[in-house]
Amino acid sequence: LVRGLERRVEVHPDLARASRAAAAHLVGRAAASVREHGRFSWVISGGRTPLALYEILREEYRNSFPWGATEVFFADERCVPPDHADSNFGAAWSAFLSHVPIPRRQVHRLRGELRPAAEAAAQYSRWVGPPAPRGDPPRARFDVVLLGIGPDGHTASLFPGSPAVKELRRSVVSIRRSGLPPFVPRLTMTPPALSSAGEVCFLVAGADKAAAISGTFRSGPLGSLRWPASRIRPATPVHWFLDRAAATGVPRSAHR
Ligand code: 6PG
Repeated sequence: LVRGLERRVEVHPDLARASRAAAAHLVGRAAASVREHGRFSWVISGGRTPLALYEILREEYRNSFPWGATEVFFADERCVPPDHADSNFGAAWSAFLSHVPIPRRQVHRLRGELRPAAEAAAQYSRWVGPPAPRGDPPRARFDVVLLGIGPDGHTASLFPGSPAVKELRRSVVSIRRSGLPPFVPRLTMTPPALSSAGEVCFLVAGADKAAAISGTFRSGPLGSLRWPASRIRPATPVHWFLDRAAATGVPRSAHR
C-alpha cells in the first residue's frame, strides 16, 4: 500500500445528500471510537461547505451523538479574535457547537487573537504533539480529520506552493499570507499533523471544485506542493464525500 493513494470515494447527487451521508458516517465513527477507547477526537476546519453537515448534527443528532465524550480540534484558524466574523471557531461555535451538549473545555480552539501568531501555533502544537519521525507511519492522534478543499486546491490553510505544505517537523504553523480571502494571516495544522488520524474525510461540493479534485487525485504517491490536499497521507484510505458537480473532476483512472 502506498500511503495516501488509497481512496474511498462517494458521489452524491447534491451537497445536502453528501452532508447527510457524511453525518451518518461521522456518527458511526464517533460511536466506534467511544466504544474502543472512550473518546472521540475530531478535527474540523472552516469554510461554508460543512455548514449543512453541522446543521444536521445539531438538529438530528443532538441526542444521539456522543457529545460528552467528544473533543473538537481545529485544522486551521484565521488570525482574528474568536468573535470575529472570519473566525473558524466562531463559525463552528454558532453553527453547532453552542447548540449541542459538548462541554466547552472539550472544544480546543486555535488562539487567532494571540500575537505573535507563531506563539499560538506553538501552543497548539503542544496539544497536537509532534509528527511521527520521518519514515514512520503517521500516529492516530485523532479519530477523524474532516477537511474541505478550495477552488485553488488549498486545504485547511495550506495554500498551493506555500512552505507550510512541505513542513515535516512541526504540527502547527502560522502563515503570513493566505491565497484566498479573507487575506489575513492564518494558523494551520501541517500535512503530517492532518495525517495523524484514524481516518481523514473530505467533504467537497460544487463545479468550482472539480479542477482541485482532479489535480489532487492526479498527484503522485508522494503528493504535490501544487495540490496541498494530496500531501495528506494517513495510514488508512482517505474518504471523499463529493457531490456530482465536484465529482466531474475525479479522473477515470480512479474509477474502479
Ligand atoms: C478555511 C478552511 C478552508 C476550507 C476551504 C473550502 O479556513 O478557509 O479551513 O480550508 O475548507 O476553503 O471552503 P468552502 O467550503 O467555503 O468552499
